[in-house]
Amino acid sequence: MKILLTGSQGQVGWELARTLLPLGEVVAANRDQADLSDLDGLRRSIRSIKPDIIVNAAAYTAVDKAETDQEQAFLINGQASGVLAEEASICGALLIHYSTDYVFDGSKTGAYLEGDQTNPLNVYGQSKLAGEQAIQASTADFLILRTTWVYAARGNNFVKSILRLAQEREELNIVADQIGAPTWARLIAESTAHILRQAQQERQQGGFKSGIYNLTSTGETSWHGFAEKIIELAKQQDGLPIKTQRVNPIPTSAYPLPATRPANSRLSTQRLQKHYQLALPSWETALQLCMDEIFSSKP
Ligand SMILES: NC(=O)c1ccc[n+]([C@@H]2O[C@H](COP(=O)([O-])OP(=O)(O)OC[C@H]3O[C@@H](n4cnc5c(N)ncnc54)[C@H](OP(=O)(O)O)[C@@H]3O)[C@@H](O)[C@H]2O)c1
Repeated sequence: MKILLTGSQGQVGWELARTLLPLGEVVAANRDQADLSDLDGLRRSIRSIKPDIIVNAAAYTAVDKAETDQEQAFLINGQASGVLAEEASICGALLIHYSTDYVFDGSKTGAYLEGDQTNPLNVYGQSKLAGEQAIQASTADFLILRTTWVYAARGNNFVKSILRLAQEREELNIVADQIGAPTWARLIAESTAHILRQAQQERQQGGFKSGIYNLTSTGETSWHGFAEKIIELAKQQDGLPIKTQRVNPIPTSAYPLPATRPANSRLSTQRLQKHYQLALPSWETALQLCMDEIFSSKP
């Protein structure tokens, strides 16, 4: 089985390049090898590779920059996703694609279900929704996995930022009125490998159905709660000079950013857990494991 992985240097892509290995031959492509902003080149690459599976971990993820860079965001997240789906359909490949809770406006009281009404508040969310729609309009077999608040030991993310700031400042002010589930990139990658295995069996046996599934850690917190937990775990590490004494909760209005974020990022994972018999861990459990990894690599 040949698997084309795009975005192999991203948080999720880097983990996928490892967790997909037992499933077959992985062609792990970085931006130079599969550029989603070059649609013709992308088509040519897929036609020469002839994959059985395409896993698209590449995306335009600069949420605030997207507000003034709409064309690129829609090209990479929207049009290129459609091209991947068209090409997957032509070569009979299954397409696995990642999306986001930012397709919702966050006004729902409970956790979002896959079929809930979308209404993105920012350009990034609009471009990711355009990608979902282009894939859904194709004739490819596909799975769209929506996730939230992704972090990893590698790359730039909230965990790494808080660890840096906690060594510099006595006091941090962190937004407390946005709720979601921090999700470790490795959990996404390991779950994807598990999902893929079952999906391929279903395709071979005739029972496969394309669709959208939510894939996040379980439980919920605010960015403020997330930061407090990161600092609590960091303080348990010998020799790490944590300066932060107080983490103050602040409203979103006190930390204005170019892109509006949804207040409620919670996604229900019931559908995924049931269909793929997955037991998704709490966000605290996964965070502890990722932080163990971050600290184990420090000299
Ligand atoms: N990060 C989050 O909090 C979050 C939340 C919800 C959903 N998601 C979704 O989860 C998926 C994975 O996100 P992530 O956190 O792993 O993102 P990431 O760490 O920002 O990685 C994105 C990857 O896409 C690559 N890329 C960007 N433009 C490209 C292009 N034109 N052609 C080819 N590759 C390109 C980047 O390449 P370079 O390394 O060269 O820059 C990077 O390796 C994405 O679909 C994202 O929308 C992420």
